[in-house]
Amino acid sequence: MSASDESRERTVYEAMGGAEGIRTLVEAFYPKVQQHPLLGPLFPDDIVPVMEKQKMFLTQFFGGPPLYSEQHGHPMMRARHMAFPVTAERAEAWLDCMRRALEETEMAPELQKAVLERLKGPAYHFINS
Ligand code: HEM
Repeated sequence: MSASDESRERTVYEAMGGAEGIRTLVEAFYPKVQQHPLLGPLFPDDIVPVMEKQKMFLTQFFGGPPLYSEQHGHPMMRARHMAFPVTAERAEAWLDCMRRALEETEMAPELQKAVLERLKGPAYHFINS
């Protein structure tokens, strides 16, 4: 093993279980979003395309391959959320759905906490109303 192999950091994406881990998380997350009174009405009935985009986005956000940018260009996530009234209450609701979805995965509690912490920045940043 070379020195560079030894020092290579495992990405959060890998720790989360790669594509399979992200898929499990996203599939646990969106039913909670759809059922949430503050969040559900913002989303289309056909949630599948949103789930596909979220899988691609979270993959690259957590250090995996840049799938979202390859298909949809620069993420500009705050701008993409401007069409929707993102309030502080909705940001908290989004994070709470994510916290509960993480609990349903096999990720270790410390990893769940780290993932949630990393998502708080963007969630609060997207507040626009
Ligand atoms: C803060 C509370 C949030 C609310 C209320 C919210 C709401 C929404 C809504 C309504 C859509 C559009 C669904 C559609 O009609 O296609 C959307 C799309 C999306 N959201 Fe959020 N979101 C929030 C936070 C986040 C966070 C923290 C992330 C990731 C860090 C995220 C990632 C995405 C992605 C990747 C899409 C798809 C973008 C696209 O169309 O290409 N969202 N969100």
